[in-house]
Amino acid sequence: MKKGLFITLEGGEGAGKSTQMAYVEECLKKAGKTVHVTREPGGTALSELIRGLLLDHRQTAMDADTELLLMFAARAQHLAELIRPALDAGQWVLCDRFTDATYAYQGGGRGIDIKRISALEDWVQGSLRPDLTLLLDLPIDVGMSRAGERGELDRFEREQQDFFERVRATYLKLAEQHPDRYRIVDASQDIPQVQAQIDAILAPVLEES
Ligand code: TMP
Repeated sequence: MKKGLFITLEGGEGAGKSTQMAYVEECLKKAGKTVHVTREPGGTALSELIRGLLLDHRQTAMDADTELLLMFAARAQHLAELIRPALDAGQWVLCDRFTDATYAYQGGGRGIDIKRISALEDWVQGSLRPDLTLLLDLPIDVGMSRAGERGELDRFEREQQDFFERVRATYLKLAEQHPDRYRIVDASQDIPQVQAQIDAILAPVLEES
């Protein structure tokens, strides 16, 4: 049986992740792949309940460690119920954020020691890592002015610019540490140009699989 790939999309606020998730899904489906489109935190009924807690702006007392553990609790359920069964069946999984977001937000943003994050990563995921990660990268002020047009802000969107600068810097560092699976997309460009970059990244991947 051919192996399905595990593809993740990452990026800061206002990077156009929803638009590009839909575009990547369309590309994979056009190539004849059976693809599960999902997101983190979330992706299963229980994980979506945990997402509700994590994003709720009224949860102002949430400790950083609680936040980290809830992210991995949601992830453990998502892996057990959706991601592993799909990959085991040879299907593709396209996920809006995954553990790189934990390194970026809880590690970079909140300042949690990355050794704690990598211990949880090994525990919850074993050897499972994404096969391909697209990082939609853009300057924080550009992203924030795009995202600013949205409605009520969630618990993360209420953070300040320096938090998001640390998130971005962590993502760029991760891309440098994992050149085998990371591809950086310049998300400050217009949608057709961003999609042309995505086409160029997906072409060899789809050819091989
Ligand atoms: P979204 O807005 O892209 O749906 O993601 C929800 C928020 O959750 C976003 O602000 C990033 C944050 N997040 C983390 O802090 N750590 C994680 O591990 C994940 C998956 C998301």
